[in-house]
Amino acid sequence: MWRFLARNKHVAAMMAVLGVAAMVVIVLTTKGTSHGVSKTHLDETEDISDDPHIFSTYDLPADDRFMPSIGNGHIATNVFSSTVHINGLYNGLRGESRRARIPAYANIRLNSTLTHHPFRPVYSLDTSDAVFKVRVDRERSVVTQRIYAHRYYTRTIVNQIQVVSKPHADPNFIHHEIWIAVKLLPGPDSEDIDFETPIPEIVDGRTVWTACGSTREVEDPTFQPLPTEVCVCWTSVPDHLVVPQHGSRVFTFPMTADKNKSVARSELLQVLQEDGEELFQKHVKSWHQLYQQAALEIEGNLHLSKIVNAIWYYFLSSLPSEESYQPLGPFYGLSPTGLARGVLLDDYHGHNFWDTEIWMFPTILMLYPKYARLLLQYRLDTAYEAAHHARDTGNSGYRFPWESAYTGVEVTSSCCPEVAEFEQHITGCISFAARQFLAVTRDEDWLKRGGCSIVTNIADFWASRAVINYNTGLYDIENVMGPDEDHSNVTNSVFTNVVAGYSLYLAQYVACLCKSYYAAKDPEHWADIAWSLALPYDEEADYHPQFSGYRRGEGIKQADAVLLGFPLQYNMKQSTRSNDLSYYESVTRSNGPAMTWSMHAIGHLDLGEDDLATQLFNRSYQGYVREPFKVWSEVRRPDVGAVNFFTGMGGFLQTLVFGYAGVRVRLDRLEITRPRLPPSTTKFTIRGMKYLGANLTFEVNQNSATLKVHSLDSTWMLNLFNGKYNVTLVPDMTVTLSGEGPFTIHSAPWKECKYPGDVIGHNYLRPKDT
Ligand SMILES: *[C@@H]1O[C@H](CO)[C@@H](O)[C@H](O)[C@H]1NC(C)=O
Ligand SMILES: *[C@@H]1O[C@H](CO)[C@@H](O)[C@H](O)[C@H]1NC(C)=O
Ligand SMILES: *[C@@H]1O[C@H](CO)[C@@H](O)[C@H](O)[C@H]1NC(C)=O
Repeated sequence: MWRFLARNKHVAAMMAVLGVAAMVVIVLTTKGTSHGVSKTHLDETEDISDDPHIFSTYDLPADDRFMPSIGNGHIATNVFSSTVHINGLYNGLRGESRRARIPAYANIRLNSTLTHHPFRPVYSLDTSDAVFKVRVDRERSVVTQRIYAHRYYTRTIVNQIQVVSKPHADPNFIHHEIWIAVKLLPGPDSEDIDFETPIPEIVDGRTVWTACGSTREVEDPTFQPLPTEVCVCWTSVPDHLVVPQHGSRVFTFPMTADKNKSVARSELLQVLQEDGEELFQKHVKSWHQLYQQAALEIEGNLHLSKIVNAIWYYFLSSLPSEESYQPLGPFYGLSPTGLARGVLLDDYHGHNFWDTEIWMFPTILMLYPKYARLLLQYRLDTAYEAAHHARDTGNSGYRFPWESAYTGVEVTSSCCPEVAEFEQHITGCISFAARQFLAVTRDEDWLKRGGCSIVTNIADFWASRAVINYNTGLYDIENVMGPDEDHSNVTNSVFTNVVAGYSLYLAQYVACLCKSYYAAKDPEHWADIAWSLALPYDEEADYHPQFSGYRRGEGIKQADAVLLGFPLQYNMKQSTRSNDLSYYESVTRSNGPAMTWSMHAIGHLDLGEDDLATQLFNRSYQGYVREPFKVWSEVRRPDVGAVNFFTGMGGFLQTLVFGYAGVRVRLDRLEITRPRLPPSTTKFTIRGMKYLGANLTFEVNQNSATLKVHSLDSTWMLNLFNGKYNVTLVPDMTVTLSGEGPFTIHSAPWKECKYPGDVIGHNYLRPKDT
C-alpha cells in the first residue's frame, strides 16, 4: 500500500526540522532502559505463558500500539484505549473518510493497575475464550477483570470485575469490607461524531446512560445523502466496588453501540438481566463453536503456534458472529488493521484495499468459506458505485476504488493521488478472489445473487482498458501501477495484466455457468482479449520485467512480479520462476512490508529450495510480530508502519497452507504437492479444510501426510488421486499420502463448462520458450 511511502517522506521532513530534539529523545530513552528502571519502558515485553492460546505478561508494552484488540465484527476496541469502533461507521468527505471514533465507555481500569502497586497485576490475552484479563492478587482478595466484545450480544463490550475474598489467618480478625477502586476513562469527546448530551435513566437500581449523535460529514453527497446516526449506551461506574470480607462477587459493566438506538438500548437492558457468569459463558461458547469448525494447528514449536493462534483470533475478531441476539446489518469489509483501528492515517483509516482479497482472503476461504463469501459481499454491495467510477473515468463495467470504506467511492487520502489513479489491479484482485471462491465452493447461489454480474462487469472493465497496439499485434494496458508503488503510470504491469487476463477468462467461464439465468454478451470476446494481452518477458535473462520498459537493477518496494508464481499460479517455466524470485529478491527494499517475504518463501518451496524457503519464511514474521500480544507491524523493527497488520498475517498463513502444506486451489481440482513441515515443528494440521462442501483434515508429519474425511456434500462426489490410483472419498476415511504427489482431489466438471485457457500474451514471440 502507500502509507509507508508517504510516512518516509513525512518522517524525513520531521527529522530535518526537529533534528536536535529527536536526538534528545533517543538519549533519554536509552538512559531509561540502561538503568533498568522499568521494563515497562520497553516497546515489547515478555510473554510468560506456555499455553499456545494464552499470552501473559507482568508489563504492558510501553508503546500502546502493541496492545491487543478485542472485537466481534460489529464492535471492537484496542484494550485500554479511548476509542471504540463499530462496523461501517465512518466520518469525513472522500479522502478524509476514516473510522469514526466513539469514546470508550468500555475502558474501565482498576486503580491498582494505574499507579505503582505492590501487587503486580498479570495481564493475559486468552485467544481461545477471546477475552483480555487482568488479575491482581491482593492481600485480602483476588481481583480479576475480564474485557471482551460479546460474540452473541454483538453490540456489546463487556467489562466484568470479579472480587474473591481470601480467608484471614486469624479467625478473630475484625472484618472490613473490601474496597476496590475503579475508574472509567472514556477519553475526550469524539472529533467525528456530534453527540447530544447523554441521558440517564434508572434501570433496576443502576444508572444507564444513552448518548446519540451523528457523524459530522458524509463520505459522498451522492451516495450518502445523510450523516450516519449512532447511539451508545453504558452503565455508570462507581469509584469503588464493595464486597463483604467473606464474599465474592462479579460486577458487570456493559457498553453497547449501534446505528439504531432501540437496538443499542434493548441489548444493554438484556445484558443487564443476565447472570454475570452465564453471560461470559455464552460468549466463550460462541467462540469455541467458531474454533471447532477449523484451525491451523502446529506442534513442536510453541512460538509459531502462538503466532498462528493470534492471527486467527485477530481475524475472527473483525469478522461478524454467525449467531447474534439481534440481526446484523451489512458487513463493511476486513481492512489492513482490522476493526479495532482506523482513526489514524497509519491505520489506513479503516479502509479496504486489495489486501483483503489477495492477502487475507485465501486462507479464510479454505477454513471459513462463509466468511470468504461475506468478504465478496462487501464488493457486491458497492458494485453500483464501482459502475459509476468506471463511467466517470471513461471505462465500462465495474472499476473498484483503490480504497473503499462506507459508500464504495474512492476514498484514498489526498497524500497519494497516484495510487488511486493507477492501482487498478484491485479490480482484477476481486475477480481473482471470486475465482478461488468458485473453485472451492461452486456456490450457485452466490452466482445468482450478484456473482455472475460482478465477474462479467469486471471483465467489461478490463476489455475497455485494453488497447490494441498495431506494432505488436497485442493488447496493452496503459497508465497503471502494479503492487510495487515505487513505479507509477506504467504500461503492461505484469501483475496487472495477469489479473486482468484471468478476469477476462473467468468471465467466459462464468458466462457459461450462468447461462440459464444470466445473459452475457459475447463471452468469447473476453477470452480473445486475454489471449492477446501483452505479458512482458525478457528472453535473455529469462525473467518477467515488472512492466514494459522496466530497467533491470531498479529497486522496488514490495512483491510484484513474483506474485505471478504465487498466488496467481501463472504457468511458466521453472527457470523463469527461479529467476524472477532471485532477481526481485535482490532489488526489493529490505525494509518493505511483511507480506513480500511470504510469497518468496512459497516460491522457494515450489522449487524445492527448502533452506532458502526457511530463510524467507523467517524473514516474513521475525521483526514484525510484537511481544507479548503478537500484534504485527507493517515494517520490521525498529520501524513500525501500520499496526496490527492483517496483510502480513495473511501472507504468513498462506506460506503455511499453500507453501509448506503444498495446497493449491485450481478451478478443476484441489492439489497437494510435496507437503512438508514448517521449520522446527513436529506436526502441522489444517483441521476443517473445506472443499466443495467436504470437511477435511489434512495432517503433515515428519515423514508422511494424511487426509481425513469428516463429511462430504452429496452434490459433489470427490475422487482423490493419491499418486498411484483414484480413491472415492467417503466419510470417516483416512488416506495416507506417500511421496511428493501431486495428489489431487477432484469432482466431475461443473455444468459441462469448459475451464478457461488462462494463457496470456500468447502471440508474443518467445522462440526459446517451447
Ligand atoms: C483512582 O486513581 C485516580 C487517578 O488515576 C485518582 O484520582 C483516584 O483518587 C483514585 N481513587 C481511589 C479511590 O484511590
Ligand atoms: C501518465 O502518463 C501519461 C502518458 O502515458 C501522461 O499523459 C500522464 O500525464 C501521466 N499521468 C501522471 C499523473 O503522471
Ligand atoms: C529461522 O528462525 C529460527 C527461530 O529463530 C532459527 O532457529 C533458525 O535458525 C532460522 N533459520 C534460518 C535459516 O534463518
